[in-house]
Amino acid sequence: MADKRRFDLFADFIVSRFVAPRVFDVAGGQGRLNEALTRRGRAVTTFDLRHKHLPVTYAQRPFTLEEPCDAELVVGMHPDGATRIIIEYAARHGLPFAVVPCCSDNGMPYNPWMRHLAELARTAGFAMVEEVQLSMDGRARVLVGEPAPVAPR
Ligand SMILES: C[S@@+](CC[C@H](N)C(=O)[O-])C[C@H]1O[C@@H](n2cnc3c(N)ncnc32)[C@H](O)[C@@H]1O
Repeated sequence: MADKRRFDLFADFIVSRFVAPRVFDVAGGQGRLNEALTRRGRAVTTFDLRHKHLPVTYAQRPFTLEEPCDAELVVGMHPDGATRIIIEYAARHGLPFAVVPCCSDNGMPYNPWMRHLAELARTAGFAMVEEVQLSMDGRARVLVGEPAPVAPR
């Protein structure tokens, strides 16, 4: 059973770490992370396929690499099959990401999956890749990637 505090804990982490006003919440389920981030002043779009969801800005479709970029940050809580897409999408658009991985998309156990995702992010060109732990039960490791700052011209 996933920890019910996960949305508030992750939202607190996100706002303490990133100034991004617009956030893509990928694989957001019912939209509870969206709700928590909206309460903290962020403009959030949740991507998932649920018919029943909270009254938040909700794109009821799978998130893909083709999604037009309308955010400064991409996040995902336990996004299962969308985990790699979050990292690849953020890399494509030069955005930071923060993801709390859960199940892998290929049967890989948790620890190798975490190492694989960190390597994926490094290979995709993120200048800073780090792991942070949320104070909650269950899968609580946050993988964060930040692109290199753009040099002033
Ligand atoms: C374990 S649930 C987690 C939901 C929510 N983030 C939470 O913590 O309760 C995984 C979710 O990923 C969604 N998902 C998987 N691949 C997706 C994709 N490409 N685009 C959007 N949602 C996706 C599923 O529909 C499901 O709701």
